[in-house]
Amino acid sequence: MDEQVASRRSARIQAAGPFHLLIDFLNRSDYDTRRREPGVLDFTFGDPHEMQQPGYVDAIREAAVPLDELWFAYKQSEEPAQTAAAASLRRVVPLAWSGEDLRMTTGGFGAITVTMKALADPGDEVVYSLPPWFLYEALALEAGLVPVKVPARPPRFDLDLDAIAAALTPRTRIVVVNTPNNPTGRVYPPEALTALAELLEEASARFGRRIWIVSDEPYNRLVFDGLTFHSPAEFYAHTVICYSYGKTLLAPGQRLGYVAVPPGLPGHDELLDAIETMQIAGGWLFPNAVMQYAVPHLEALSVDVAGLAAKRDRLVMALREMGYEVTSPEGTFYLWPRSPIADDEAFVATLARLGVLVMPGALFETPGWFRICLTATVESVEAALPHFAAALDEVGAGTAGQAERSPLGTSL
Ligand SMILES: Cc1ncc(COP(=O)(O)O)c(C=O)c1O
Repeated sequence: MDEQVASRRSARIQAAGPFHLLIDFLNRSDYDTRRREPGVLDFTFGDPHEMQQPGYVDAIREAAVPLDELWFAYKQSEEPAQTAAAASLRRVVPLAWSGEDLRMTTGGFGAITVTMKALADPGDEVVYSLPPWFLYEALALEAGLVPVKVPARPPRFDLDLDAIAAALTPRTRIVVVNTPNNPTGRVYPPEALTALAELLEEASARFGRRIWIVSDEPYNRLVFDGLTFHSPAEFYAHTVICYSYGKTLLAPGQRLGYVAVPPGLPGHDELLDAIETMQIAGGWLFPNAVMQYAVPHLEALSVDVAGLAAKRDRLVMALREMGYEVTSPEGTFYLWPRSPIADDEAFVATLARLGVLVMPGALFETPGWFRICLTATVESVEAALPHFAAALDEVGAGTAGQAERSPLGTSL
């Protein structure tokens, strides 16, 4: 008798590079064993480090009080949530969004998975750039899709359009674009998105099959220095936007997000029906009723973007002075410095010994770099600076060694 317990599909996802590295990091690393030790400074996941703002708690408390007997009945997408989210999206992505264009989801995860399954069939290819958000591969594999990875161009990690063009085949169905980008902090400029749109139009025509953009943009409100965010949806009609409230509100444990299909797109209603079908068939992937009722209030709230920018400035300047190479992120809440030694995992272990937890580039399939999360407190940032300097010295790359080394810390 075949006693195999776990499905081959789950085993394939578990074995995938980014997935098992992430699970090891969560369950069997310094992050797991040390993050709650007194004095240890945690710059790993985009989690809150301070108490949630009162307005957020009030909105959920109010939404939890039933006003009728159907308050906690089965919910799909609640119209007031869709309408409030669409009004807010109009301010960020200048299209004529209405609530009808949106379906509420269990965060960005839920949005991406149902969009992939609504658009693509098993065996279809999904193209994305490295370094990626570390769960694209798991979501693609679970949907039976074939991940096709294209490295972005360091040190700014712009989209490599020639490489994307070369990666497209008649089986390509989706190109995932993540701007502002986790982990690089890059906000892709309109020129890059226009060029991407042109090449996808041309490739779709050549292959006789539409290639879609899935625009993963949970950080589209977290942009610094007055820069204007641009969504691929402004340049390429066949774009589906996936959004999560987990970043803007820094509350990723309360699952809430949406999928937005541009108004007027041919096949608009059919695609939204397919998305809703996959939400149901995927296991009722709608946010809880209370979270949906809270959306009109939550849309007025945000993390302190100026505070994030101030932490970014402090860290970028200090790290550069020490000799680190780091590009100043234009958005998100991450810094993506180059590891001063080729082995980013060894360097991350050195920092951990000094009490500073960050993520190795290996987790993002891009060795040689590492990620620092800016949701840590201002006090943690200040406390970590001497440790970042000490780590450089430990690996023999401190300011003493600067003269012989390539010019790190330039204004990238
Ligand atoms: C680029 C990107 N996409 C999607 C997600 C998923 O967001 P959520 O956990 O809020 O669903 C994240 C979370 O880290 C992310 O960084």
